[in-house]
Amino acid sequence: MTPIVTAFFDEATNTISYVVQDPNGKSCAVIDSVLDFDYSSGRTDTKSADDIIAYVQKNDLQVEWLLESHVHADHLSAAPYIQEKVGGKIGIGDRIKIVQDTFGKVFNEGTEFQRDGSQFDKLFVEGDSFMIGQLRGDVLHTPGHTPACLTYVIGDAAFVGDTLFMPDFGTARCDFPGGSSEVLYNSIQKILALPDETRIFVGHDYKAPGRDEYAWETTVGEQKAKNIHVGEGKSKDEFVEMRDTRDATLAMPKLIIPSLQVNMRAGQMPEPDDQGDVFLKVPVNKL
Ligand SMILES: [Fe+2]
Repeated sequence: MTPIVTAFFDEATNTISYVVQDPNGKSCAVIDSVLDFDYSSGRTDTKSADDIIAYVQKNDLQVEWLLESHVHADHLSAAPYIQEKVGGKIGIGDRIKIVQDTFGKVFNEGTEFQRDGSQFDKLFVEGDSFMIGQLRGDVLHTPGHTPACLTYVIGDAAFVGDTLFMPDFGTARCDFPGGSSEVLYNSIQKILALPDETRIFVGHDYKAPGRDEYAWETTVGEQKAKNIHVGEGKSKDEFVEMRDTRDATLAMPKLIIPSLQVNMRAGQMPEPDDQGDVFLKVPVNKL
């Protein structure tokens, strides 16, 4: 089956969110939504999420799922906000528990912060399937960028989050806590084992040298032939050497500190204090 895929590009964080619709009905899923956040002022904004909600409402769609490919480090998830407006169940990978444990320690969260994934409506494991109306989704566990990363294969389309990027840009970094370039290489082989004509939708695009337009859709065949990091049958050793060398030069994403604290809570802010005010922490010399 060929789902109707609509992309929403967020220029502030280079994130692509997707609405994936059953071609024979009104059911849809929203993948990797963005809550706008201005770190300098500590203010959130819902413009990006409102664009998605407006699209859903205009087309009279029924949101079945709000899917997260992983705990993002570069933007805040708008899943709870969208859920409140138009419904849907929030799903993520079962290994979120590992991510919650790691960052629960980094941010010195107390015992009130549950590390069992219970903030989400559904925890997926490899091999799980789910329905969007008559459209079937299958779950691949594709860790490496983070331990909990998933690829959602929905009809002929694979939503790969931060594993593969466009062929001319390559692959995702593997240097966050719990990341591993060797593990990512193995995960990418799983994606490349899908049929060549499978459409691939990536989680981010930064343009690539020589390319002036943002892009987010490619195919398995194109990735196998042309991906600059893993295409043309690059070996695991070559990939690991390249990836680790490159990762050592990368700065932390601008929004990593607020993003992790919010996204590990399924997109919710930390509990307000007794005055009703909400605060995020900045751990010093920890990341
Ligand atoms: Fe990411």
